[in-house]
Amino acid sequence: MEIISGTALAKQIRQKLAAEVSLLTCQHGRAPKLAIILVGDHSASMTYVNSKVKAAAEVGIQCEHIHLPESTSQEELLTLIRRLNAEPDTDGILVQLPLPPHINTDTVLLSIDPQKDVDGLHIVNVGKLASGRKAIQACTPRGVISLLKSAHITIAGKHAVIAGRSNLVGSPMALLLLRENATVTVCHSQTQNIAAHVAQADILVTAMGKTGVITPDMLKPGVVLIDVAMNYDDQGKLRGDVYTKDDLPLLEEKVAAATPVPGGVGPMTIASLLQNTVDIYKENISHC
Ligand code: GUN
Repeated sequence: MEIISGTALAKQIRQKLAAEVSLLTCQHGRAPKLAIILVGDHSASMTYVNSKVKAAAEVGIQCEHIHLPESTSQEELLTLIRRLNAEPDTDGILVQLPLPPHINTDTVLLSIDPQKDVDGLHIVNVGKLASGRKAIQACTPRGVISLLKSAHITIAGKHAVIAGRSNLVGSPMALLLLRENATVTVCHSQTQNIAAHVAQADILVTAMGKTGVITPDMLKPGVVLIDVAMNYDDQGKLRGDVYTKDDLPLLEEKVAAATPVPGGVGPMTIASLLQNTVDIYKENISHC
């Protein structure tokens, strides 16, 4: 079984971006700029945002980290986004999710200029993706495609099964795999007999956020397993939906290739965010 390391690929991507950003910053007199907004003190979100800020700084992206209190009103947040939309030197805007319950997520995501929507969550980018046009792609699915390609896994013609249909992962993942000419099945909480679908998968992407619904005995021999989830078990140990890093030897007989948890998709989400930021920046400086 091949272990597809997201940690290693993300490092390569960061190194390549750092060299590119250094050159472009000298040539164009400004670095790419990413604004990251966090509302409240959700502890996992604070960890993710700190990792994003650190990774951006490492590759030379200027990062404006805006940490607002939980009590921030929707109007205050929208005013901030309008300010960032209007700033010519701000290339990307990311609003970390989830937002507090008094703020409407759709309204906020829709208020971001689609050309600065570095997370690919605005309906303009989702629509472009769905209709096969060039679009800013959601970070985790972009990272999964990069991982599959880096491991030279053929996607075209393969049956890809996705467990989970969230706007952040499952739904854009389906669109990107379709774009790569896979045959795609999306399973969700109302799917009957999920085991029958999982058993058909040449490529299985799990993003349910729930360990144990899909178990290794369900897998088709030779499957490529991409476990997106980061769940904590009763002992506080990090697990995917199907397995954790320690279980990989147990999957040896059935699985052709797998991403570890942790160290698989997680680092790639951040690497894709940096790639999206630099892609938008390059588009912007080409118009100057
Ligand atoms: N919350 C968890 N993952 C993500 C992500 O990729 N982007 C945003 N904006 N929020 C998240």
